Amino acid sequence: MYLDKDIVKEGAPSLNEKCERVRLPLSKNDLEVAKNLFQYLIISENEEMCTKYGIRPGVGIAAPQVGQNIRMFAMNATDFLDEKQTKYTFLVINPEIIYRSPEMTYLPGGEGCLSVTRPTEGLVTPRNLKIIAKCSLLDMGTLKIKTVKLTLFGYPAIVFQHEYDHLDGILYTSKMFKIKDLDEKIQPLYTINEDNEEEDED
Ligand code: NI
Repeated sequence: MYLDKDIVKEGAPSLNEKCERVRLPLSKNDLEVAKNLFQYLIISENEEMCTKYGIRPGVGIAAPQVGQNIRMFAMNATDFLDEKQTKYTFLVINPEIIYRSPEMTYLPGGEGCLSVTRPTEGLVTPRNLKIIAKCSLLDMGTLKIKTVKLTLFGYPAIVFQHEYDHLDGILYTSKMFKIKDLDEKIQPLYTINEDNEEEDED
């Protein structure tokens, strides 16, 4: 399993490189990477495991963050704004965002990233409110791959865009703004309730 020492940190040139498409069917190496990325997110959901292994919780992790410059990422994000608390858990391969809504939004508490260890509070990253992406998803049970069109809105769309950016060598830290400098049309995804702040990193 990946530990914090395996996570490539901001400043490493490889995090700024465009990743290569994954060849299908998956090679042995790429399948291992997929399994380990996915496993990291599942393990990191458990607070005790995070303490035990010294890892940070994450809702997304991309292959370049573990030194594999291929277009693959895992996400495991609960849409906490949705009544049903829908979970968006995917192992994504060769994604292509084919639609981005003109409406923009941002996480009012700012984003986080397993590769970023410096504080970035008070700075936010504008994202498209809705996206449609074409990608291959690896079913972690059957290990079968299917090509799908995902339509994502709000929080899961933000997580997806954050991870997608990693595949193009872009960190959220290169797209951070002060809220007061943003176009007023760009509205926060939600209003922060100080008693219930989210601490997840993606
Ligand atoms: Ni990240």
